[in-house]
Amino acid sequence: MIPLDLVPLSADEAAHEVRVVEAVHAALAAAGGWLSFAAYMDLVLYAPGLGYYAAGAHKLGAGGDFVTAPELSPVFARCLATQCAQVLAGLGGGEILEIGAGSGALAADVLQALAGSAALPVRYRILETSPDLRARQAARLAALPDGLAGRVEWLDAVPPTPFEGVILANEVLDALPVERFRVLAEGVEELGVAATAAGFALVARPASHELTRAVAELGVALPAGYVSEACLRLGAWLESVTAPLARGAALFIDYGFARRAYYAPDRDGGTFACFHRHRRHEDPFVNVGLQDLTAWVDFTRVAEAALACGLEIGGYTTQANFLLGTGFERHLGAYRATLDAQSEPLVARRAMQLVLPPGMGERFKAVALVRDYDGPLAGFSLRDFTATL
Ligand SMILES: C[S@@+](CC[C@H](N)C(=O)[O-])C[C@H]1O[C@@H](n2cnc3c(N)ncnc32)[C@H](O)[C@@H]1O
Repeated sequence: MIPLDLVPLSADEAAHEVRVVEAVHAALAAAGGWLSFAAYMDLVLYAPGLGYYAAGAHKLGAGGDFVTAPELSPVFARCLATQCAQVLAGLGGGEILEIGAGSGALAADVLQALAGSAALPVRYRILETSPDLRARQAARLAALPDGLAGRVEWLDAVPPTPFEGVILANEVLDALPVERFRVLAEGVEELGVAATAAGFALVARPASHELTRAVAELGVALPAGYVSEACLRLGAWLESVTAPLARGAALFIDYGFARRAYYAPDRDGGTFACFHRHRRHEDPFVNVGLQDLTAWVDFTRVAEAALACGLEIGGYTTQANFLLGTGFERHLGAYRATLDAQSEPLVARRAMQLVLPPGMGERFKAVALVRDYDGPLAGFSLRDFTATL
């Protein structure tokens, strides 16, 4: 559904949209007039110099399109730092690799928290595909003291050599392109993208063999007409980013559910959504290249993919449980003590959004995937829902 109150584009943005639309037309022409939905997402989110994440859109924060947990409150990063410190201590040291570091807020706050508890990683590497976000991260992290800024390195690709430590990825899985499908009485059709007289539209085709098999393998009975999405790239992507982790834990936090809830009867239509200037809607064909496109994460798929690449599930729980298990109340108390009386109530309310059920507390989940690490994981000590995956 398109909200009536979408923020109009500036002249520069409108000109940029024209260029992205032209690129989609060119891709459609090259592909015979139809693109899978994942191919469309790939283009409008990641095409160099054009896509939402690859060009200049502001994206995160108050002046952008959405707010993530590290932007909401540094208490989030302090809790993650507690989890990192525990794993690094269990390994006898190591490094941190953050994937998709956004504005750099998480990296900056994790490093400062780890410095405060004398638990710094040997280095903090960032794998970031977006050139303009990388520049924002560099500017933000350059303001850290030398002993911290000097530990940060950027990577263009997954590290080629093995390392021990922690992988962090907050709200990255939801940014991976998904395929959209509709279940038929017999078989499955794929909802891809084509150009029509009225602009780009979802156009159905018989599903690819891979998508048909993936829907069959969900193991969930879906009624005819049911529409949803599946992230078929997740397995290959997870394998590539975790391959160099020789020992340690990979921590993914995102909005999502276990499969049974993801493909529940009342979730017909799926979870796909678009964000522009903090307004949520479901039309991927407006603001082309200038809005975020995202889908919730099927954490059962994450677990299956992890097992397939030789990782174990260290824990799966809600963000609220994860943060409470890693000292949320203590970290919030310490943070509040540094604030003046005027800002304290607002800042505390923002931090509480991280754990409250109507905020991020229940919708967001944390999963730890471990390799050759059987030490404790504080984030999963309160409640571990791995059995529901
Ligand atoms: C929704 S933002 C989240 C940013 C940040 N982690 C946060 O929580 O504020 C998604 C991030 O993932 C990055 N990203 C998307 N796909 C990626 C990929 N395949 N590899 C690495 N980073 C990716 C984006 O450029 C962006 O930094």
